[in-house]
Amino acid sequence: MRFMNTIKTILENGNSGDNLTVKGWVQTSRTGKSVSFIELSDGSTIKTLQIVLNPDLENYDDVIRHALTGSAVIATGVLIDSPAAGQQFELTAKSVVIAGSVDPDYPLQKKRHSFEFLRTIGHLRPRTRTFGAVFRVRHALQMAVHNFFDSEGFIMVHTPIITGSDCEGAGQMFRVSTLDPANIPLNADKSVDYSKDFFEKEAALTVSGQLEGEIFALAFKNIYTFGPTFRAENSHTARHAAEFWMIEPEMAFCDLQKDMNTAQKFIKYIVKYVLDRCSDDIDFFDQRVEKGLRNKLESIVNSDFETLTYTDAVNALQNSGKNFSYPVKWGLDLQSEHERYITEELVKKPTFIIDYPRDIKAFYMRLNSDEKTVAAMDLLVPFVGEIIGGSQREERIEMLDNQLAHFSLNKDDYWWYRDLRRFGGVPHAGFGLGFERALMYVTGMQNIRDVIPFARTAGSADF
Ligand code: 4AD
Ligand code: MG
Repeated sequence: MRFMNTIKTILENGNSGDNLTVKGWVQTSRTGKSVSFIELSDGSTIKTLQIVLNPDLENYDDVIRHALTGSAVIATGVLIDSPAAGQQFELTAKSVVIAGSVDPDYPLQKKRHSFEFLRTIGHLRPRTRTFGAVFRVRHALQMAVHNFFDSEGFIMVHTPIITGSDCEGAGQMFRVSTLDPANIPLNADKSVDYSKDFFEKEAALTVSGQLEGEIFALAFKNIYTFGPTFRAENSHTARHAAEFWMIEPEMAFCDLQKDMNTAQKFIKYIVKYVLDRCSDDIDFFDQRVEKGLRNKLESIVNSDFETLTYTDAVNALQNSGKNFSYPVKWGLDLQSEHERYITEELVKKPTFIIDYPRDIKAFYMRLNSDEKTVAAMDLLVPFVGEIIGGSQREERIEMLDNQLAHFSLNKDDYWWYRDLRRFGGVPHAGFGLGFERALMYVTGMQNIRDVIPFARTAGSADF
């Protein structure tokens, strides 16, 4: 006895003659002269199960009147080999119950809707074929993440969501406070008196679990986090969300090269996992969203990524003969047009850019011997740009203190982070994969709002 009758398990493991009950939502229905049909969908697969309704069904007239697109149906019947092309089975109904009828203004009708429109009905879009596929792949991808790290012996750690430290030092944090905005307690110098606040200090939503991850890496060697992160970046792009999920492995006794090796092995694993588990959904994306997606994903699994130093990347950009809108100069950050040129035209595959200038990266990155660059790596992929940011961490206390001073950060705020360098500190490294960026890459979806169930972006937090 199967635990559940989902359309997926029925189509994969059913046998002609099986008596069964299915529950789901009507994707389309058709009334014919002699028989009627319902295409039933239940979220388990991109495929639908066709329910055949014969007029001898007790409540036939009632069912065909109410089994409209969007209504919920419970159907019991016999599975038979389907004479129709493109499907193995159909269900000849013995009983059909309309479990939830649908009002006539149901917005999802048979036609194709734009992703922009579907964002306005975030409560209904999971029932569409595209979003069904997106969220099934999202599920598979997060299983892949856990399976990979578990099989590699990593310990998962839940780092805090509310924090007192700004990991990226970019000042893009959402404040967490219970102070009355109409009546903020002030110090004598007019600054906010956070000692009256809930945590008796300033607190915010985390931008990254890395710093706490380092604590655990220096006890468990190999750890990872996978949690929500928050950035108050006012970036109105298709790749930035204010709330997104990040996977951050951290490894002790590890340098930048080993960090990149792990990142490459990890990306290949999760892509292969999705290809294996979500084959029908990937075919759907290949046909409807990004032509050639399957080939692209297969080549990720089968070929190695490229590595380029930041300095070589800048030289290549300067010699490209391209007319970029943003300047290319050693010391400036790479803009998305530059990243796109590198991955889409120059290298044409995932590329690690390493050894960035110290001043455009975070304080915790390890200074290289040239004293101008840090042991950083970003993984860029075609069409999405940066999906991973990582580095070897500065494990030398004097160098770390230099960095804190260089970035005008207060040493005392980082007391425990500094302690880790004094008490059995070792070279260690890690990286962060933006989960939604990875999902965009494996599905071909072009807007981050369309790969997260409920997007939070500048100016928008609906549902
Ligand atoms: O490059 P980032 O800022 O690196 C860190 O946060 C490090 N603490 C990671 C580490 O070394 N443990 O962010 C990592 C990744 C980016 O490469 C990108 O994929 C994603 O997080 N990301 C975002 N995704 C969606 N919306 C945003 N606003 C994002 N900002 C970063
Ligand atoms: Mg980054």
